Amino acid sequence: MTKINAYNDIAALRQQELLHGEMKPHRFVEKPMMKNLLPDLSGKRVLLVGCGTGEESSLLEECGARKIVGIDLSEKSIALARKMYPHHDFIVCDMHSLAFKDATFDFVYSSLSIHYSKEPEKVYREIYRVLKEGGRLLCSLAHPVRWASEQIVVDDIPVKAIGFSNDKNNKKLIGIYSTFAQHKHNFSRYGTLSFYVGPPSYHFRLLKEARFSIEDFVESQAIEECKEYDTYYYERYKEFPQFMAFLARKK
Ligand SMILES: C[S@@+](CC[C@H](N)C(=O)[O-])C[C@H]1O[C@@H](n2cnc3c(N)ncnc32)[C@H](O)[C@@H]1O
Repeated sequence: MTKINAYNDIAALRQQELLHGEMKPHRFVEKPMMKNLLPDLSGKRVLLVGCGTGEESSLLEECGARKIVGIDLSEKSIALARKMYPHHDFIVCDMHSLAFKDATFDFVYSSLSIHYSKEPEKVYREIYRVLKEGGRLLCSLAHPVRWASEQIVVDDIPVKAIGFSNDKNNKKLIGIYSTFAQHKHNFSRYGTLSFYVGPPSYHFRLLKEARFSIEDFVESQAIEECKEYDTYYYERYKEFPQFMAFLARKK
């Protein structure tokens, strides 16, 4: 199970990998998806929820953000973010209880962080509270097609699968799609992390219940540039979504 401060142990390694473009999911899949959805942020006050070591602040700055504040539960990540990006504010804070007054921000950006919460509805309500009227949330989450799939062996080849046996006498369900549940993954360099995965419709409903109106929804696809770097990675994640993103507005 992921320890509450699991990201303290991997903060420095992860920061180096991000800075050197070594994380394929970020470089070729998730960040391009998020970049495409980012609006012009000229003059806006932006909150980064689950900012890690703060690399995304550069992207938000490029979009014109006037003020950037990042929050994360990991003290080590926040210390590294402060050192690297001293012109922004980084605060140790839990996303379930944001240390800001109502209607403080124009825009909230959250990459691959809300899925660490087993109660994402609380996070969405908090984000709604700290957004100004008309403000927007852009968040990315683990997609169940990738992260709720299960490894099976087909023709001696390990395969990530989601589905069921087509034989009522040999029943077998492989992976989970519809149920919001905790999943553990053993990452080669980071060890085991666990997070919560549910279908798009689950998050869609929670966002609506938090009173957001959904403006856009995207399932990730690897970008063309990945083809030369790692062809099979490109072929896999061009066809199967690893992540999904919502753009939602406070009414
Ligand atoms: C996969 S990292 C994403 C970091 C960064 N957004 C990025 O994409 O590089 C997830 C981050 O969520 C943070 N996190 C997990 N639970 C949290 C919570 N309850 N409140 C604030 N941050 C949390 C972790 O410490 C970690 O830095």
